[in-house]
Amino acid sequence: MDSDRDWYDWHRPYADEGSPLTRRLRLVQRHIADWLDERPDRSLWVVSMCAGQGRDLLEVLAGRPDAGRVRARLIEYDPRNVEVARREIGAGNLTGLTVLHADAGDLTSYSGAVPADLVVMAGVLGNISDADVRATITALPQLCAPDATVIWTRTRRAPDLTPAVRAWLADAGFVEQAFHAPEDVPFSVGVHRFRGRPQPLAEAGQLFRFRT
Ligand SMILES: C[S@@+](CC[C@H](N)C(=O)[O-])C[C@H]1O[C@@H](n2cnc3c(N)ncnc32)[C@H](O)[C@@H]1O
Repeated sequence: MDSDRDWYDWHRPYADEGSPLTRRLRLVQRHIADWLDERPDRSLWVVSMCAGQGRDLLEVLAGRPDAGRVRARLIEYDPRNVEVARREIGAGNLTGLTVLHADAGDLTSYSGAVPADLVVMAGVLGNISDADVRATITALPQLCAPDATVIWTRTRRAPDLTPAVRAWLADAGFVEQAFHAPEDVPFSVGVHRFRGRPQPLAEAGQLFRFRT
């Protein structure tokens, strides 16, 4: 799982409000905020796969008086990103959130944190093989509570896998709520709602291996 990419430096374009990465982040955050607004007064569970520094969820919750009703597990492999996310959680007093320093491809990393009401897969599907994308989508019913939402991102650089991603999500019991594919940038952001039957979490298994 060692990678040539520096996943701490990968976050630097977030410092530029106009960067494509920040534009993507703002879309993801808008959908997280909408998701919260549509479920007032409920306790909610979130899982973030390969969470990085956790900016999507943490920045949304930092600005909300109802952050206390959210419990979340952020799963991240790079210890520097884990440290940043934990620091932000402490600074925001987001007591329901934890960061697990672990392999998000390993199903055991989700034990005790699922079924989740929101699964965030930002920056995951473009960094794993097509077969692993399909396997991860097929396994989502093990991570999702009834009516859960999945927010995902994926580059549309050729060959564009997003038509297949959307078809595999439909096959796995998801209905599309939104799909953003801005013309001037390669990223896309999708939002899907789970209408299928949740499945118990397998005791062991590998969803994906990050590309090195
Ligand atoms: C493209 S970045 C996305 C970060 C974050 N989700 C975002 O959108 O800002 C991918 C992240 O996955 C992390 N990562 C790589 N392999 C991983 C693994 N097997 N399990 C958990 N995290 C992993 C990297 O350290 C990096 O922070």
